[in-house]
This record gives sequence, C-alpha cells and structure tokens, in this order.
Amino acid sequence: MSKIKIGIIGAGSISEQHFRAYSHHPEVEIYAVCDLNEERAKAKAEAYGAAKVFTDYRDLLALPDIHGVSICTWNNSHAEISIAALEAGKHVLVEKPLCQTVAEALKVEETVRRTGKLLQVGFVRRYGSNTEILKKFIDAGDLGEIYYAKASCLRRLGNPGGWFSDIKRSGGGPVIDLGVHIIDICWYLMGKPKVKSVSANTYNRLGNRSNVEHLDFYKAADYNAALNTVEDMANALIRFENGASLMVDVSFTLHAKKDELAVKLYGDKGGAELEPELAIIAEKYDTILNVAPQVDHPSFDFIAGFQQEINYFIDSSLGRTETRSPVEDGVEVMKILCAIYESAAQGREIEL
Ligand SMILES: NC(=O)c1ccc[n+]([C@@H]2O[C@H](COP(=O)([O-])OP(=O)(O)OC[C@H]3O[C@@H](n4cnc5c(N)ncnc54)[C@H](O)[C@@H]3O)[C@@H](O)[C@H]2O)c1
Repeated sequence: MSKIKIGIIGAGSISEQHFRAYSHHPEVEIYAVCDLNEERAKAKAEAYGAAKVFTDYRDLLALPDIHGVSICTWNNSHAEISIAALEAGKHVLVEKPLCQTVAEALKVEETVRRTGKLLQVGFVRRYGSNTEILKKFIDAGDLGEIYYAKASCLRRLGNPGGWFSDIKRSGGGPVIDLGVHIIDICWYLMGKPKVKSVSANTYNRLGNRSNVEHLDFYKAADYNAALNTVEDMANALIRFENGASLMVDVSFTLHAKKDELAVKLYGDKGGAELEPELAIIAEKYDTILNVAPQVDHPSFDFIAGFQQEINYFIDSSLGRTETRSPVEDGVEVMKILCAIYESAAQGREIEL
C-alpha cells in the first residue's frame, strides 16, 4: 500500500518534532519540505529522505499528491498558509498559536467549513499522556465541577529572540507563545466553558536580558537579540460564564529564583495538578488524600506528546477519529489571548 505524502512548511527548531514523529509513522512518507531558508529546508529533506525542497510554500501546495501539511513557520504566516493549504485541498496541522488575531482565526475557521478539510491546531499538551490520564479522572467526575484553575509558565531567562521577539512576526511575547499552551490546557480540562471576561496586565520592564551569561535557553533558528518589541511578563484573570475562573502568569524573563511550570485545577469534589507532576487530590472518609499516579511520565513528555499529536492528525484526516484540537478551539483560545493584550493596553476588564 502506498504511503500518505506529507509536506512540512517551516524547517526551524520545532519542525524537528514534526519530522521525527512523521518519520516514525508507518503510513507516512515525508515528501516535501519548504523553508524561506533553502539550506535549512535541504538539510531536513536530506535527513528525512524528502524528495522535494521549496522556498515558496505555494509550490509545495501545488503538488497534487500531498495529503496534508504541518505548518511550523512564524506566527504571522499561520493564517495565510493554512488558508492556502486548505484551499489547495490539503489537511493542515498548524503550530500554535492558530494565528495572530481573532479576525484571522475566523477566516481560517470559515475556510475549514467551506473546504471540508481538517485543520488541527498544535495544542500538543492535549496529547500528553499526563493529560490523557487526568482527563479520564475528570470525565469520570472525580474532580466534580472545576471552578478554579491556576497556571504559571515563568522563565527567568528565555526570550527566544529572532521573530519571537518581533511583535510583527510573533503577535506578542510570552502570552501568545507560552500562555497559549497553559491557557488552552486549563480551558480544555475545565470542559471548554464560554469566556465571559478577561482582566490582564503586561509588563516590559526587563527587556530580553541578552546580557546574561552562563545560562542556556530555547532560541529561534535565526537567533538575534537586537530587536525586542514584545512584553516580558504578563498575568491575567479569565472569568467564564459558568462562574469558573482561571488565573495565569507567564514570562520570558523575570527576577525569579528558577523557571516554573504549574497547572492546577480545583473542583468541588477533588483537585489535580497536571504540572509539574501529575497528582490527584481527593477526600475520603474525612481524610485528604494526595494521590500520586504511578506512571512513566508524570509530567509532559515532549517526544511522545508530539508523536500522539501527529498520530491523531493522520487518523483524523483519514476519518478514523476526531481531532482533539479542532479549529473552533483555536479560535476560542485566540479570543482569550487577544483579550489579554486588549485588557492590558486599556487598563480595564474586557467583556467578550
Ligand atoms: N508546540 C510547541 O511546543 C512549540 C514550541 C516552539 C515553537 N512552536 C511554534 O512553532 C512555530 C515555529 O517556531 P520555531 O521555534 O520552530 O521557530 P524557528 O524560527 O526556529 O523556525 C521557523 C522557520 O520557519 C521559516 N519560515 C518563516 N516564515 C516562512 C514562510 N512564509 N515560508 C516558509 N518558511 C518560513 C523560517 O525561515 C524558520 O526556518 C511557531 O509558530 C511557534 O509558536 C511550538
């Protein structure tokens, strides 16, 4: 049986996870690679045996036998490339965030409806085994109604530079880059309640601290610290129509003792921590229990999470299952992210 042909657009840092996962998928052939940087595209094509290399994504999309594409480019091209790919009849896996604005998100959603193709948003944390385990407890009612969640993704030093710190190409700093993951995972586990309002603050107090030595961090493929037009820290309180609330803080840099990743959910029957380590909090026979699930990966397993995301993309595109991260969810998360920036800019709560 011939394999499904996949194209990968954007061959920078995160694309490696897509290349690796597709290369381990028994039904997939990585057929074409595209990057503005031809050398980078060629290197990936060589490493993963791809037949075709392009520098213009339109040439890749013109290949009739491409079944689907991963879009791993800067955020400013996600909407444009997603729409072009869908219109060319391809299924799309687009890295997070879906795009930069709510208007763009709605256009992508409309194109999905019109073309009938699949668009899966790269909310990779939904595909982590720790999330899958916790979701079973939540769906079975162990937490009851989740009325509060709290999430932090704080880097003391971790502005990835390059396009990430150029607001025109990224759309923002840690809110759109890191906040997108933790806001999405809380919202998903809370049962996707309708957002009512957002109140937020953003800060540009420390710059990118590219002067700091002796500490390594994630960098864009074209790392450059010269331009930095994004916030370095933000916090937000998100209210939902069902009365639940979510409190979030994120940073690219902060005078913190160490990096921190925490995702916590509180229900009326029990609680849970997804990060830094899966834990379930219960009450039984008038006693509080902290339950530590005995699993290989109590926190997010990057490699396995991406493999599961790609497996879902392929299975959903073939109609075998439903994606866990459809375009509608990308739109709702964009509304929250944009409301955070709007609230911070206006210095007041934004009603959605
Ligand atoms: N899921 C995750 O955990 C995760 C982690 C990191 C980054 N990302 C997302 O992945 C995307 C890429 O991030 P990265 O860290 O790989 O950045 P990167 O800078 O390392 O790589 C991006 C690549 O895209 C190429 N590119 C940009 N615009 C293009 C276009 N129009 N056509 C073809 N190529 C183009 C660039 O030349 C570059 O090689 C971003 O949207 C980012 O938010 C997701």
